[in-house]
Amino acid sequence: MSAAARVAGLTTSPIRAIASGAPADAISLALGEPGWDFPSVARESLAAWTETAQHCTYGPNTGIPELTTALVGYTGLDAEQIMVTAGSQAGMFAIFQAHVEPGSQVLIPDPAFPAYETLAVLAGATVIRYPVGAAHELDANFLIDALNSASRPSLVVIGHPANPTGGAASAHMLNRVAGHCDQLGVPLLSDEVYRELWLDQPQPSVREVSNTALVLESVSKGWAAPGLRVGWVTGPATLLAPARLIHNAMNTAPARPSQVAAAALISHSAEVLTESRAQVRARWDVLANSPLAQHSARNAQAGFYHWLELPPWADADPSAFILRVRDEGKVLVVPGSAFGPAGQHYVRVSLGGSLHTLYDGLARLAPWWERQC
Ligand SMILES: Cc1ncc(COP(=O)(O)O)c(C=O)c1O
Repeated sequence: MSAAARVAGLTTSPIRAIASGAPADAISLALGEPGWDFPSVARESLAAWTETAQHCTYGPNTGIPELTTALVGYTGLDAEQIMVTAGSQAGMFAIFQAHVEPGSQVLIPDPAFPAYETLAVLAGATVIRYPVGAAHELDANFLIDALNSASRPSLVVIGHPANPTGGAASAHMLNRVAGHCDQLGVPLLSDEVYRELWLDQPQPSVREVSNTALVLESVSKGWAAPGLRVGWVTGPATLLAPARLIHNAMNTAPARPSQVAAAALISHSAEVLTESRAQVRARWDVLANSPLAQHSARNAQAGFYHWLELPPWADADPSAFILRVRDEGKVLVVPGSAFGPAGQHYVRVSLGGSLHTLYDGLARLAPWWERQC
């Protein structure tokens, strides 16, 4: 495949595209990043490091020892089962490049975080989308059916709690999916970047039921530090080894100051995650008390995305409706179609930003769901 063909289908992330051409005074409920404070343990560790560092060296490809030690403590794994990456996005890229064969198929959910399809296409593969359950949860039956019908599957991707729906996965379903992937010899990649932001009850990791699955995580959501660009992939050393070489070729290692701050965050996970969960619950409370709640109650099990069904009067032309909401209503949400065909009649509303932005943004959004404008 030529270089031009490989990138031909790539565009700006559809999550960011909605902002291009938006009115200057529009409120964004589009981007998925925490709007609460960068935790003080990270700020203090960065300040201390800046005070004392005489050199700012590359550091090992495997990550600075403080970070790998913190991750060994957090995951309970050995260092060789952990790959430190420049955000989970770079981890995802490295895994796709290492394991997806050109001409093969990658199984992804419908709806799904758009990067899964992008990375499959970049690796020369096509995607097969499998449906999720009625509450947007992982349903092993659907996934296994799709996997059995694939002629050349090279990777199975699950995302839970899911972006964009907040749909969850039970340990039972994870176990069935992991077992089936093992039987077929197809690697399973589980994107769990929102797992720590649970709402009613802790969400299981596929690590609890499988020692062959690959798991993606990062400090971006739960630890409120997306700008650090630090993530990690866990899994069998044999599957990580080729991905490490790809990550080294592209990034060498994440930025050293970022790793210092990430190490402090992970070492203080208990208090940092408790605060983040409280912040996320406060945002869902804003939604519950907004007029929009009459039209759609919370369906997410974790994270800060509200998967909102469009009103009936938007059905004829969802894109035109979402652009009117943006240009006349002055509020940005992401069209559900950005996440796959199953999102055609939805929008993703990010509750992640600041509380006052959310409050104002939902007030602007509600009238469009209350009556035909
Ligand atoms: C489901 C999911 N996975 C991965 C990522 C990438 O996050 P990061 O590279 O900041 O870890 C995101 C970012 O929004 C996401 O929503």
